[in-house]
Amino acid sequence: SDLIALACALPKAELHLHIEGSLEPELAFELAAKHGVTLPYADVEALRAAYDFNDLQSFLDLYYAGAGVLRDADDFHALTRAYLQRAAADHLRHVEIFFDPQTHTERGVPMEDIIGGIRRALLEAEAEHGITFRLIMSFLRHLSEADAIATLEAAKPFLHRIDGVGLDSSENGHPPSKFERVFALCREYGLPVVAHAGEEGPPAYIWEALDILQARRIDHGVRCSEDPKLVERLRAEQIPLTVCPLSNVKLKVYPDLAEHNLKGLLHGGLVITINSDDPAYFGGYVNDNFIACIKALDLSETDIVQLARNSFTASWLDDAAKARLL
Ligand code: HPA
Ligand code: ZN
Repeated sequence: SDLIALACALPKAELHLHIEGSLEPELAFELAAKHGVTLPYADVEALRAAYDFNDLQSFLDLYYAGAGVLRDADDFHALTRAYLQRAAADHLRHVEIFFDPQTHTERGVPMEDIIGGIRRALLEAEAEHGITFRLIMSFLRHLSEADAIATLEAAKPFLHRIDGVGLDSSENGHPPSKFERVFALCREYGLPVVAHAGEEGPPAYIWEALDILQARRIDHGVRCSEDPKLVERLRAEQIPLTVCPLSNVKLKVYPDLAEHNLKGLLHGGLVITINSDDPAYFGGYVNDNFIACIKALDLSETDIVQLARNSFTASWLDDAAKARLL
């Protein structure tokens, strides 16, 4: 339809993308062969068929296993380059991407190779396609705060190449308050903070992300709807939510996209954005998420334009760059 064509063609930003979650099965097998490692699946089709999740944890188990084929800077470069080609095709003009260093340093991959490979692809895409970027280092919340602090220390020589920090992985049982000290350190280092909260976890975790970690944007955040005072705060302070519709359906946060609350939150005046989260695993990139929402939620032209604008408003671009894109 015309609305789908409009959504696809509009300039947009993506603010919630785990680069490891953009690993398509074809590249996973290519890198496995390169490094002489065996994936526990016969072929690309068998791996893709395994992407049938019950919840966040069942996805994370596969996501961390898949990341095991990423071993050197060229792998991270190839991964990021493939994502950015999709980003350009979807008319993304700006991306803010997460990487999970602990997944890789644990396997002996040097921090320098991870960051260096990702950044090389980001700089190439900026030159080739004009896509600007921010790079966000995310801590794994299922690990200890001490492990996060050690990771921050290991990243210290590269902090000029990192634009902010985030918090992801298994949410329930791992509240933001568990990471109060490491995020205080990050803020001392001048790093802006975002955090996953209210995806599977309760509204209290969103409050903690805001008040204890001083997050300036919430990743997912959809469970805010259970707490009207929280919704009012997110609206009053215009704290953006990076919503990931196809992810939420794949991980059974919502039984069906038609049940999703993003349109209601958008109409309530919250700064809602649409993102892909882990596109290789959840069945689509940014435009696929827009198309699915247009179909399931009957979004209007005004909604679509607002969502695209919000993606720039909620970004970490400076005001001059936002003014050019809005
Ligand atoms: N939630 C938590 N951790 C993650 C996600 C997510 O959606 N994707 C990758 N790591
Ligand atoms: Zn995420």
